[in-house]
This record gives sequence, structure tokens and C-alpha cells, in this order.
Amino acid sequence: MTKSSEDSPSRRTFMTVVIGLISAVIGVAVAIPILGTILSPLFKKRDIVWAELGKIDDLKKIKPLTPKFIPVYFRVKEGWTINTLPRQVVVVKDITGKLYFFSNQCTHLGCPLHWIAARQKFLCPCHGGMFNVLGKVVGGPPPRPLYRWVHKLNNGTVLIQNKFMDNPKDRGV
Ligand code: FES
Repeated sequence: MTKSSEDSPSRRTFMTVVIGLISAVIGVAVAIPILGTILSPLFKKRDIVWAELGKIDDLKKIKPLTPKFIPVYFRVKEGWTINTLPRQVVVVKDITGKLYFFSNQCTHLGCPLHWIAARQKFLCPCHGGMFNVLGKVVGGPPPRPLYRWVHKLNNGTVLIQNKFMDNPKDRGV
């Protein structure tokens, strides 16, 4: 009796490969949506949120050309958790009464700035960067003026967004 062609080793090998490929395709098709659901929060861009800064009437009372550092707290979703990110807003009123909402981050490498009243300048302790009261670079390595927070007025309250209005890379928070 001759061995049937169905039992030949080459046919069995072929069937094994085909079944293996089909199993792999089904496995990938099932795994991709599950992995996508699990991992997507890690790759999602950070939420854009607003935080209260203060009443506009109070902010208008600050002394002209005298920066006031005010903390804000952004509640942002990161991955699977919601974190509170404290940040500083430097409010400056110019001589016309216009308000500016600067970040206290140096635009060189992000160190926190100090206001030196005697010199009327923001000083960066890291590499000596200096900015004038309206955020213009007046010394050191910073490549650009201070970042300004996105902001809006809502029922008399100034809200700050966790984003800079003039930074394409959005280093806000
Ligand atoms: S980080 Fe401010 S000068 Fe370098």
C-alpha cells in the first residue's frame, strides 16, 4: 500500500505553516486594540486645562513695573492619573495699566527666575540670564523673551491655561 499524498511531509509542513500564520494574524488582530487601549494614555498629549489666577480688579491694583509672583495649580490628566502641577505666574502691570502674565521659567534652560528689585531685573541663577521687567532679554544666554501664559477673563476672574501663547514648542507644563 502506497502512502497517500495527504500524509506527505511537505504537505504537513505546509499546513503547519499556514495554521501558524493564521494563528499569528488572529493573535495580532486581537492584541492591537487591547494594547492600544492600555497604552494610549501614555502617548496622548497632555490635557489643556485652566486654573484660576485671581480677580482682575485685584490684579489691576498691583504696583506698575513691580512683578508679583502668583502660584497656580493645574489639574492635568497624565497617563491614568490626575496630577496637580503647581506653576508660577509673574504678573506685571506696565505704565499704561496693561497686564502681562509671564512664566517664571528662564527661556534658556528653564531655571526659575528671581526678581531683583534693586536692579529692576529678573535674574536667572543658573547661567546669569537677565530680563527686564517686561520680559525682554538684557543679558546672558537666553535666546528669547519670557514666555507668556495663555489667559482669559471669566466673570471677573483671570484664568491661566497650561500653555504658553508664544512658544511653538509649548513648554508650558
Ligand atoms: S537657564 Fe537661565 S541662563 Fe541658563
